[in-house]
Amino acid sequence: MKQLKRTFLREIYWFAKDSSLFGLPFLRKIRDKLAARALGGASDCKVGSRVFIRSAHFNPHSFVEVGAGLRVGSDASIDYSGGLRIGRNVTISEAAMVFTHEHILDGEADWRKNGLKFSTLEIQDYAWIGARAIITERVKVVGKGAVVAAGSVVTKDVPPFAIVAGVPARVVGERRVVDQMTPSDS
Ligand SMILES: CC(C)(COP(=O)(O)OP(=O)(O)OC[C@H]1O[C@@H](n2cnc3c(N)ncnc32)[C@H](O)[C@@H]1OP(=O)(O)O)[C@@H](O)C(=O)NCCC(=O)NCCS
Repeated sequence: MKQLKRTFLREIYWFAKDSSLFGLPFLRKIRDKLAARALGGASDCKVGSRVFIRSAHFNPHSFVEVGAGLRVGSDASIDYSGGLRIGRNVTISEAAMVFTHEHILDGEADWRKNGLKFSTLEIQDYAWIGARAIITERVKVVGKGAVVAAGSVVTKDVPPFAIVAGVPARVVGERRVVDQMTPSDS
């Protein structure tokens, strides 16, 4: 019954996410709540228009867990087919793409016949994935407070508080953080 309710709410979200009606302030709140449900029930979650949140391919081990305070910009795409854990106060900006599956290239020339590999991704507290950045399936962790610059393609784990940029993304800096990010935040 619980699963049925979740599926039903997810289907309503599929309608709401693309409807410009749900851009209206009051209805936007409803869309945020539906999106949060689709992501496993996070509180204080704000999600823009046309955000794609789904398990892109069937995987019986797929899961999604999201902490409070998530912000997702319009046109972002979040695939949790490999399993996705998002910490608290994470931002995924406009048109960013998060993948947790990859296609196996070796084998048949028609790579579409070779099947898929899945990988679990953790995006830790306070991380910011910039606009149009792509997180590929090889990435297992985007560390706490890390920043992924706009348009980057991330192929390796991102250390905590690192700033990564480019294609492929490399560390270009480190955030200087003084402060309040105590263990109780995580
Ligand atoms: C990464 C970012 C936060 C800047 O961080 P910063 O620490 O101030 O970085 P700097 O500007 O000092 O740049 C450091 C290096 O990274 C490069 N760089 C910065 N942003 C880059 C990007 N998006 N792609 C490629 N390289 C980038 C700079 O050219 C510089 O290279 P150099 O040392 O060879 O000159 C910013 O460029 C960015 O991408 N912000 C995200 C914007 C966004 O997504 N907005 C959505 C609004 S919600």
